[in-house]
Amino acid sequence: MSYKRLPYMYDVLPFSPTSPDDSWQNTALCQYVEAKFREVCRRFGYREIRTPILEPTELFTRNIGKGTDIVSKEMFSFQMRGEHDISLKPEGTASVVRACIQNRLLIDYPMLKLYYIGQNFRAERGQKGRYRQHQQLGVEAFGVADPQVDAEVISLAVTFYGELGINDCELKINSVGTPASRVAYAEALRDFVRPYLSDMSEEGQTRFEGNPLRMLDTKSERDLQILENAPHLVDYLDAESRDHFEKLQDYLSALGIVYTLDHRLVRGFDYYTKTAFEIVGKHLGSQSALGGGGRYDGLVKDCGGADTPGIGFGLGMERCLITLQEMGVELPLPPGASQVFLIVLGDDAALVRRSLQIMAELRTNGIAVDRDFRSKKFTQQIKTADTFKARYALVLGENELAQNVIQLRDQTTKEQKEVALSGLVAELKGLFAG
Ligand code: HAM
Repeated sequence: MSYKRLPYMYDVLPFSPTSPDDSWQNTALCQYVEAKFREVCRRFGYREIRTPILEPTELFTRNIGKGTDIVSKEMFSFQMRGEHDISLKPEGTASVVRACIQNRLLIDYPMLKLYYIGQNFRAERGQKGRYRQHQQLGVEAFGVADPQVDAEVISLAVTFYGELGINDCELKINSVGTPASRVAYAEALRDFVRPYLSDMSEEGQTRFEGNPLRMLDTKSERDLQILENAPHLVDYLDAESRDHFEKLQDYLSALGIVYTLDHRLVRGFDYYTKTAFEIVGKHLGSQSALGGGGRYDGLVKDCGGADTPGIGFGLGMERCLITLQEMGVELPLPPGASQVFLIVLGDDAALVRRSLQIMAELRTNGIAVDRDFRSKKFTQQIKTADTFKARYALVLGENELAQNVIQLRDQTTKEQKEVALSGLVAELKGLFAG
């Protein structure tokens, strides 16, 4: 019996996968990107939150919206014997809101900025950049209605991509206003589309009935042509939302953040209010959104908390890694797990005991050391050191043991020198520092 991973899932490996197209599926790259995100979040005043992967299904159906693609088609939901309907979380925001309310965080910290790195599950038809399990790097900022926070949240995402070396992405913004302004706009949009409805794609026609704003989020050329002169959502905004949107644009300009207005940007969740934004990459084909987010001023109240404004985003880890790969960005990855390889010539008890002590001493002193316990032969052991790309090899035999020394071999230049065991840690630290 041989098992294969499920469709539209992927593995992340400690070595580059054999296919160059998949070389982004690498743990060291993931760790680097996660560390960068944590570090940028720290500078912006965000604290980490971790929520469970399983949540009550209703948390998502009620708050993301029944008519959305995620809820109507993509949730991994199931029923536990005698328990609630539960779902693998398709996104992070509703979970974070649930956790904040349940743990009284918004009462104790009425202004709260949180970040998370989490796995999400959507039963989508996969393609490059779209998987059934994906990881999001996200933030959620609660308690501030002022557009300064919208600008700060967007600035965090832009800073993160910039520091990774992804400088060619585009920031798109729009305002989706209040639920009332969206109802008025939805009617105007339906009135505009009605005469051409039979010419629209099947998907467009379904959305016309169930979720008219989503007609704007189409890739169908025919639908795009029909919608070219459609009314714009911004023209239906209430005065407060319009003022909020104008201030946001002013603050983005003050920060030197370049953006474009995208009247078709509506995002696929019902909880958004006012600001909506997406960061679009150039290297992802049709799955071009590197990340997206927006304001959700009614969500905390809808989930049973006090009336608390909020705004956040989710950035796709896989799309970020694919972009780095396509752009050929070389990340300054830290050294791997086998900086030094110890080669032990023989299996005499005293030799083995001393070799174990040497490895323990190096590890205590922060030096990554490994060895091939399978073999007593030099050739086999040095081959393993090469396989794991060790920077240095240490060779210990009976003679070295008797004289309290060890051979230190540079694996790149193949130069070798004898070092006193008492000075080995200092010698290696000097080499790695240099
Ligand atoms: P979203 O736009 O659905 O927003 O997802 C955010 C990002 O996650 C996308 O831009 C994309 O990069 C990535 N992503 C989504 N689905 C997949 C998939 N199937 N495969 C690979 N990557 C994917 C949200 O989820 C909101 N909760 C974001 C947010 C936070 N809004 C406010 N706060």
